[in-house]
Amino acid sequence: MPLRRLRPRLAGMSDSGTNRRDPFSEKFKKFIVSGWAPYSSELPAELPSARWAAKRRAALLDELPGATIVVPAGPLKVRSNDTDYRFRPHTAFAYYTGLGEDREPDAALVITADESVLFFRPRAPRTDREFYADARYGEMWVGQRDSLEEMANAVGMECRDIRTLEDHLAGREGIVVIRDADPAVTEVVDRVRGGAREDADADFERRASSQRFRKDQYEVAEMERAVAATKVGFDAVIRELPNAVANGRGERWVEGIFALHARHLGNAVGYDTIAAGGDHANTLHWIVNDGELRDGDLLLLDAGVEVNSLYTADITRTLPIGGKFSDAQRRVYEAVRRAQQAGFDACRAGLPWKGVHEASVRVVAEFCAELGILPVSVEESLSEEGGQHRRWMVHGTSHHLGLDVHDCAHASREDYREGMLQPGMIITVEPGIYFKSTDLLVPEEYRGIGVRIEDDVLITDGDPVILSGSFPSAPDDVEEWMASLQA
Ligand code: GLY
Ligand code: MN
Ligand code: MN
Repeated sequence: MPLRRLRPRLAGMSDSGTNRRDPFSEKFKKFIVSGWAPYSSELPAELPSARWAAKRRAALLDELPGATIVVPAGPLKVRSNDTDYRFRPHTAFAYYTGLGEDREPDAALVITADESVLFFRPRAPRTDREFYADARYGEMWVGQRDSLEEMANAVGMECRDIRTLEDHLAGREGIVVIRDADPAVTEVVDRVRGGAREDADADFERRASSQRFRKDQYEVAEMERAVAATKVGFDAVIRELPNAVANGRGERWVEGIFALHARHLGNAVGYDTIAAGGDHANTLHWIVNDGELRDGDLLLLDAGVEVNSLYTADITRTLPIGGKFSDAQRRVYEAVRRAQQAGFDACRAGLPWKGVHEASVRVVAEFCAELGILPVSVEESLSEEGGQHRRWMVHGTSHHLGLDVHDCAHASREDYREGMLQPGMIITVEPGIYFKSTDLLVPEEYRGIGVRIEDDVLITDGDPVILSGSFPSAPDDVEEWMASLQA
């Protein structure tokens, strides 16, 4: 069959190593297939996400009428030798199938006006060698996987074996694929349609990314769950802070405590936790997390739980490790709060996306001017030719949030950065001020202070809804939060 020319996994040959002799005796092979209870005849219920996924597929087809749309889940990724990373499906696959967690490696969804079909590798019966000999797919190695019928019930779609994908696509018109999700599937698509059509594929990926701007009701509820789980993680970190200080390498302790709750309540962390004590907060993507936590310093904790449906929160709080802000820390913190409030005020449907950032950074620039460290006027700094304030906040204030922490990232600049806020969007508002310990322009008392406050905001027809509003934010409230949990 043509798929055999592809990677072995699509052709059902994953146990094809030739450097070893068959380690199973004939007697074992006879013995292993007998004495097992039959598979349960009970079929799984339809996933709550399934009907939402069906609506999303219909909306996508409205944009691409007549197309044959291929959305691969992606392959398992090798960590080393025969050890894979935990699987996470491509975001578009999760969105259009409603599948979450680690489902389903090597699968591909095909959407056409007539039908949607999910192709995946169904479990082989226990009489098959896969059962005991296949470390990637075998029940003895990775547990019992779905049959075609079981998966069909869960996703509310017809399901077929991935090894029939090429036959299904052959002769169809207008095939597009998410090119980088699974090279093996892209190879099938390119062969069937007689070459790469990179422009059409990129156009499809942009549309698929833009479709996720506005969250449906199911997605908003999942985001609320992600935020609630993240709150449990933050509370646990605060309770453990004295231990984190005492045990040494406190940043790792914090990372570990948060990860425990992320795995316990959800699927995983939605991105690598930033647990940054003191000056480490001024390294924006500090994920090394190997530093000490010291009384008198701040801890910048940027963390989010990804729930089983794969929606993630993205929240930052900057906490005084000893429970009380110093005067200098409080002044910086208050400025960031003001910047965030200005951002919130700009979170209204019909206003430009970039207005949130512009409102926030104006406050940052004004604060820097008040400190006397801005070498030009606020207006000049905020002009395109200026930008001097960015020395102290080099990142953007907002991004879309959802299945990906930086969601909708393939949308066009026109739709994203140059677009308007719309009801149903969920975005972060996360200004910060970062005074590195080595910054000689900054008054000494502020050096080594880094503050970011990040909340997750739902845009509505009226006032924005701060989904993470249960996280204390005013400095007095943060101190009280910490005192109440550490009492
Ligand atoms: N945690 C990544 C971000 O805030 O964008
Ligand atoms: Mn963020
Ligand atoms: Mn963040």
